[in-house]
Amino acid sequence: MSVQRPLRLGMVGGGQGAYIGGIHRMASRLDGKWRLVAGAFDVDPQRGRDFAAAEGLDPARSYGTYQDLIAGEAAREDRVDAVAICTPNFTHYPIAKALIDADFDVICEKPLTATLEDAIALERLARTSGRFVGVTYTYSGYPMVHEARVRIARGEIGAVRTVQVEYPLEWMATAIETQGNAQAAWRTDAKKNGRGGSIGDIGTHAYHLAGFVTGLKLEALTADLAIFVGGRALDDNAHVMMRYEGGARGLLWSSQVALGNSNGVRLRVFGERGSFQWFQEQPNELIYTPLDGRVQWIKRGADDLSEDAKARTRTPPGHPEGYLEAFANLYAGFAEAIYARRDKREPAAIGRNVPLAYDGLKGVAFVEAVVDSHEARDQPWLKPIAV
Ligand code: NAI
Repeated sequence: MSVQRPLRLGMVGGGQGAYIGGIHRMASRLDGKWRLVAGAFDVDPQRGRDFAAAEGLDPARSYGTYQDLIAGEAAREDRVDAVAICTPNFTHYPIAKALIDADFDVICEKPLTATLEDAIALERLARTSGRFVGVTYTYSGYPMVHEARVRIARGEIGAVRTVQVEYPLEWMATAIETQGNAQAAWRTDAKKNGRGGSIGDIGTHAYHLAGFVTGLKLEALTADLAIFVGGRALDDNAHVMMRYEGGARGLLWSSQVALGNSNGVRLRVFGERGSFQWFQEQPNELIYTPLDGRVQWIKRGADDLSEDAKARTRTPPGHPEGYLEAFANLYAGFAEAIYARRDKREPAAIGRNVPLAYDGLKGVAFVEAVVDSHEARDQPWLKPIAV
């Protein structure tokens, strides 16, 4: 194995006042596998440069636009290895395409793109170019999510019968997009966000989580979207009934208006011989209920966990790990996948089963199918109640 120098990271978006860029910066630092060396951090070039200066970046690698970043980095011997795209959804495709065309690897936020057409094109580009395109489906970074996945694949609960997955949030329960909240403003604009409101923003996480853990492939769905906050153009609540290949059923709920839920991601998988439950606000535990009803709380850090879970664990049980560590696991996994490609070897456990462009494409296809289903008004399952 060749020496693994830290990879050089560039970033587009994630500047002053932005949300997810800061999480990427912290997560990428945690394991020492990445160094942030370049950025075009803001849609406003000067604000972006000011931000880069405050981050202590070399001024020569602080760029006004992503096009300048690509031109500037492509001309350097120590060019960035990969660029993280931390901008609103509609910009993902043009930025990712320009990066891949210039031979950079990409770490792209979800949803992969704002339209299915763009997602298909980007996934094809990733495949044909051979560039690495990782997608930050945060919840697939948690060790106990991997543990559930491994145990289900081993057959511990038998064939899966039903999957209940939900992602309720509360922060958009009022029209904050009209009161200067930048994050809510673009998320409620179909041109910038894409057609799916809550379903595109967070339902896509839930859909990925359910498919990732169960290994099930979605066959068909039917959906009911709602807009509860007046003046909004996109759904802020979604219910989706799903049918997986092989006959398993699923229910998915995403909501931006579920008061009382700060970040209530929850997955429950029920099989022939048992069930697994995982709740993101208690991420260090996986609840296993076998057929005899003797509930077991499986702890992160326990000795008998899978290689996949152990590879994503840093501290002993009782020292909680959470969101930042899960995000860091994605970054460590992306680095390992990139090193393995370079060294022409199989990736170690941390670099296996990381979310890639194809997973991003599936997520966008899911969102499109949900909105299409809702907009098809002849849904035979929607029966009025007589009394
Ligand atoms: P935000 O509105 O807080 O930040 C967007 C940033 O992008 C701002 O700094 C803005 O100036 C910059 N920007 C916009 N256009 C640009 C351009 N052309 N060039 C350079 N910079 C540009 O948005 P937020 O909430 O951070 O979301 C960004 C992305 O991250 C979205 O795709 C969202 O879906 C995703 N996200 C993912 C999460 C996860 O758990 N993986 C959580 C939150 C957001």
